[in-house]
Amino acid sequence: MTVKVPPLKCQGIKTKLVFWIKDHAILEKDGTWIEPFMGSGVVGFNVRPNRAIFSDVNPHIINFYNAIKSGEIDSSIAREYLEKEGALLQRKGEDHYYEVRERFNKKNSPLDMLFLNRACFNGVMRFNRKGEFNVPFGHKPERFAKAYITKIANQIKYITQALSQYDWKFVCSDFKTTIASASPSDFIYCDPPYAGRHVDYFNSWSEENEQELYGLLKVTPAKFILSTWHSNQYRKNEALEKYSSQFTVLTREHFYHVGASEKNRNPMLEAIVLNYNPMIPVKMDSEKQLALFENFKEGYVVLSSPRK
Ligand SMILES: C[S@@+](CC[C@H](N)C(=O)[O-])C[C@H]1O[C@@H](n2cnc3c(N)ncnc32)[C@H](O)[C@@H]1O
Repeated sequence: MTVKVPPLKCQGIKTKLVFWIKDHAILEKDGTWIEPFMGSGVVGFNVRPNRAIFSDVNPHIINFYNAIKSGEIDSSIAREYLEKEGALLQRKGEDHYYEVRERFNKKNSPLDMLFLNRACFNGVMRFNRKGEFNVPFGHKPERFAKAYITKIANQIKYITQALSQYDWKFVCSDFKTTIASASPSDFIYCDPPYAGRHVDYFNSWSEENEQELYGLLKVTPAKFILSTWHSNQYRKNEALEKYSSQFTVLTREHFYHVGASEKNRNPMLEAIVLNYNPMIPVKMDSEKQLALFENFKEGYVVLSSPRK
């Protein structure tokens, strides 16, 4: 199975961790998937829950998905728009990118957000103190080739189809309100910004925020997974040590590439924090083995009963 990549990208996108997170999430049939820091939405969009609240403090992400939901944007509208803007980019070069950026900062059009996100340096979203998108141009003027536009149009089609099938809401909100709305049958997936990194208008994250987040997760009646980093060769995540003692912490090594050389592979231990005992994927060879596990379900076992 491959991960469905969403139309908007953002820094800290969890494409590589989707299946790890999905495999450990336990969503009850009638529960709502709650994602207070949706960013690109890649995790929830691949989990495909029947009901979801995707939330973020960045209004441009939320406007974009609400525009798909209302039909203001669909795959053919996006295709037509990208063909037009892509041709202008090819003709005028990076000046056109900066014209769109200026236009976006005045009018906040969700299609312009898509263009900037896909043409800017590193495919990130960064906003200055006035809340203006400020990432420089990062590609060749021929960026929007036919195949690339088709790829983006298909990513939009995936969302349009999912929205016709499932009850997904997109809400611009601070994480505190979103988490506080969860009930016992819901599942919260949290992926906050990492403190001290990617600091910008919608992405600042302080020690106080971290403390508030863990405080809310401690008392939520819902199950949750929080993804964060555990350690790298230089340091440990002190907040994780400080706040996670009552939770289950699972780790997994992930390599971040810095430059092309093998020796620049920086290993980072990723962590997920859970308030229940996780399901562990297992292969069962026989009925006899299967009988050993009370909770065997579709290739998974719960190692012990969930804590309450
Ligand atoms: C690390 S990114 C999430 C990445 C996402 N899981 C993905 O795979 O694309 C963190 C997100 O949190 C949002 N954010 C930052 N502070 C927030 C806050 N106080 N409340 C809600 N969202 C916030 C940012 O706008 C950003 O989109």
